[in-house]
Amino acid sequence: MKAIIPTGGRGTRMRPLTFSTNKHFIPVANKPLIFYPIETVANAGIKEVGITYNPGYLDEVKSVLGDGSRWGLKFTYILQEQPKGLANIFEVAEEYLNGESFVMHLGDNIFVGGINSLVSHFERQKPDGLVAMVHHSENTRLGVPYFDKDDHLIKYVEKPENPPHDFAIPGIYFFSAVVFRCFKDADAIKPSARGEYEISAPFQWLIDHGMRVDVLEYKGKWLDPGKIDDWLGSNEYILKNNLQEKVESEIDKTSKVEGKVSIGRHVEIRNSKIKGPVVIGDKVIIEDSEIGPFTAIGDGCEILRSKVKRSILMSGVRVSGVKDHPMEDSLVGTDSEVIGNNGRGAKTTLFVGEKCKIQL
Ligand code: G1P
Repeated sequence: MKAIIPTGGRGTRMRPLTFSTNKHFIPVANKPLIFYPIETVANAGIKEVGITYNPGYLDEVKSVLGDGSRWGLKFTYILQEQPKGLANIFEVAEEYLNGESFVMHLGDNIFVGGINSLVSHFERQKPDGLVAMVHHSENTRLGVPYFDKDDHLIKYVEKPENPPHDFAIPGIYFFSAVVFRCFKDADAIKPSARGEYEISAPFQWLIDHGMRVDVLEYKGKWLDPGKIDDWLGSNEYILKNNLQEKVESEIDKTSKVEGKVSIGRHVEIRNSKIKGPVVIGDKVIIEDSEIGPFTAIGDGCEILRSKVKRSILMSGVRVSGVKDHPMEDSLVGTDSEVIGNNGRGAKTTLFVGEKCKIQL
């Protein structure tokens, strides 16, 4: 079985960051988001992965992901000409899939408990389609399964207004090759009102043609870091539950480190307090500051005279004098600078790009 992992899409909910950064490369606990799905499919025993990308992004995607060998995988890059929806992503991969069954794992979903139970169900039972379902309080913004009185899946609706229960379908989809008929037969699927080939459409096509689509409840933790609050929540969850502790730099005696931490190489921490869980990348300088909990600091950051908690700083961020009003619940993009007032002065000075969000 092969896997498809997409890297495209518009990333609208994470603007302005996604004007310059592919959403899939924004970090969760200092690791690009898309590394999680890649690890998940590798851990499920899959060896070949088709990585889809939108025009103009091949070089960047390749430079971050490489050929897959670091995960023991073989990557093949596949162009998706236009962001025409999730069903279109595997449609463009038909030739690559070459008649094999496959799983598409969205590049922005994290199945913390892995997907092995789903893979083995699919391989043993051989349905034409398989989806997972999870309880979710906001399932009106997700895919939702509808069942008859015997618990058979009869409908799969994308973002319904009044779902009958709190189940949602997360971003992992299994198909046999028969699904490609849904793009070619006389009654082929059509784009939705928003102009996209929704992922629900091929599943609905299979159901309507009497083919077997199974639904398995996913009991592990599912994270969906699509928008800023969920991103910070996912970062917190991974730091709390999955952080691998390591300290690769010497910590100055004037500093205190408590709780679970991961500290990279060539890090200098002086007269500061680190309260885990916290992950700190390489070549970071922290001085007269308090960091954590639930904070991820990327490579090359510099934090001086500041308090930062439950935040994500991407690489090369500089924070200084942010103390009276600590930085909290924040995500700061690569090479940005945040300058506080050091406890003096009552004015706010900003140099802000387009479509930013500033909360003072
Ligand atoms: C997509 C799917 C939706 C699914 C969700 C999971 O939604 O269309 O069915 O529940 O991913 O992340 P989107 O994030 O594109 O709105």
